[in-house]
Amino acid sequence: MMNHQEKSGPKSKIDFFDQAFTRNPFPVYSEIRREDPVYRFMMPSGEYAWIVTRYEDALAILKDPRFVTNPPWMQQEGPTDHHNILSKNLLSVGPADHRRLRNLVQKAFTPRMIEGLRGRIEEISNDLLDKVQNKGEMNLIEDFAFPLPIIVICEMLGVPIQDQDKFRDWSNTIMEGAYNPSYTEKGSKAVEAFISYLHGLITERRENPQNDLISDLIKTEEQGDKLSEQEMYALIFVLIIAGHETTVNLIGNGVLALLEFPEQKEKLLKQPELIHSAIEEILRYNGPAEASNIRWVTEAVEFQGKSILEGEMVLISFASANRDIEQFSDPDTLDITRQANQHLAFGKGIHYCLGAPLARLEGEIAISTLLRRMPGLRLKTDLAQLEWRPGIIIRGATEIPVVF
Ligand code: HEM
Repeated sequence: MMNHQEKSGPKSKIDFFDQAFTRNPFPVYSEIRREDPVYRFMMPSGEYAWIVTRYEDALAILKDPRFVTNPPWMQQEGPTDHHNILSKNLLSVGPADHRRLRNLVQKAFTPRMIEGLRGRIEEISNDLLDKVQNKGEMNLIEDFAFPLPIIVICEMLGVPIQDQDKFRDWSNTIMEGAYNPSYTEKGSKAVEAFISYLHGLITERRENPQNDLISDLIKTEEQGDKLSEQEMYALIFVLIIAGHETTVNLIGNGVLALLEFPEQKEKLLKQPELIHSAIEEILRYNGPAEASNIRWVTEAVEFQGKSILEGEMVLISFASANRDIEQFSDPDTLDITRQANQHLAFGKGIHYCLGAPLARLEGEIAISTLLRRMPGLRLKTDLAQLEWRPGIIIRGATEIPVVF
C-alpha cells in the first residue's frame, strides 16, 4: 500500500477544525480565495491536505479523473468483514463499479419517483409540528429537522421506525470520526453495531420481502451478477448515513438563513411559490455539505501554481465555491429570487448527489410547512450562541431553539 505523503511540519495558519472557524467560516474562505485559493493545511490526523476554494477550480477538480475517491493503494479485496464494508460504497468504488451500483439505485431517486412521496412528506411534516404547535417553542433540529428525513429514508428503505433512534448515535459518531483520529475507535464500534443491525434486518427481509428498497436490493443481489452482498450492505449504509446527516441541516441552515435576512423571510411568506428558488439559494448560501469527501491524486499535478504530489489529499470546499464573487453576484447576500443559481451544494461530476431530488423536495415541504404554520418563528437565543457541528464536511448547528 502506498503511503500518501505523510509529512510532519508546522500547523497551517488556519484551523479548519476550530469552533470559531466553524461558526462563521465565510470571511476566512473569502480571504483564502483571494490570497491562496489552493490552500495547504494540516488535518487533525497530522497529515497535510489541499483545500480548493474557488468555483472554477472546484469544478475543474470535480471533473478531473486524476482526482479520485478510490486510489489504487486503498483498494481492498477479501472477505466481507465489518471493516471493509464501507470500501464498497458509491463514493469509494472505481468508475465501472460506480456506474453499475448507481444504476441500480438511481431509479428510486429520480425526480418523478420522489415526487410520489410529496403527500407523505407533507403528512410527516404536519405530524411533527402538531406535537409542538401548542408549546410555542421547540428545538428545530431535534423536534423537526432531524426526524423528518429519517422517517422518509427509513420508510423508503423499509427500516422499522422504532429503530431510528439507534442510528442517530452511530451515524453521528461515524461522521465525526471521518477526520478526527480520537474518534477512530468509537467510530469503528459504531460501524460494527450498525452493520450487525443491518445484518438482522436483511436476514429478516430475505424471509419476508416487502414493498421497499431493501427488499428490491435483496432481489437484485439474489440474481447473482449485479450486486454483491457486500455492496448491498454498503449501499444501504450510505443511504442511511446520507439521510441522517444532510437534509437535517438543509432545514436548519435554511431557517437560520431566513432569520438572518428577515426581508427574505417576509417575501417567502407573501410569495410561497418562490420556495423552489429559495431552496436553491439556501443550498448556495449555507448548504449542509461544506466540503467534499477526500480526493486522492493519482499522479503529480500542477494546479494553479501549486505542485500537488501523487498520493496527496484534496478537499473541495463547496461552501467557499458557492460564495465566489467570480460566479455569484453579491455572494454573501441571501436572495431567494436568484436566477441561474449553478451552486455546487450537491457536488458535480460522477459523485453528484444521488439524493438531490429527495433533499430538495424535503427541504421545500419542510420550510414551506414551517413558515405557513409558524410565521412568527424566531430564534430563542442569539445566533452567536449556537454551537456548530465539528469538522468541515457537514455544516449545521447542533441545536436551534426557536419560539413561535
Ligand atoms: C441537502 C441535502 C444533501 C446535500 C447537501 C448532499 C450533498 C452531497 C454531495 C456534495 C455529494 C458529493 C460528495 C463528493 O463529491 O465528495 C453527495 C453525494 C451523495 N449523496 Fe447527497 N446530499 C444531500 C442529501 C442526500 C440524501 C437525502 C441522500 C439519499 C438518501 C443522499 C445520497 C447521496 C449519495 C448516495 C451520494 C454518493 C453519490 C455517488 O458517489 O455517486 N444525499 N451528496
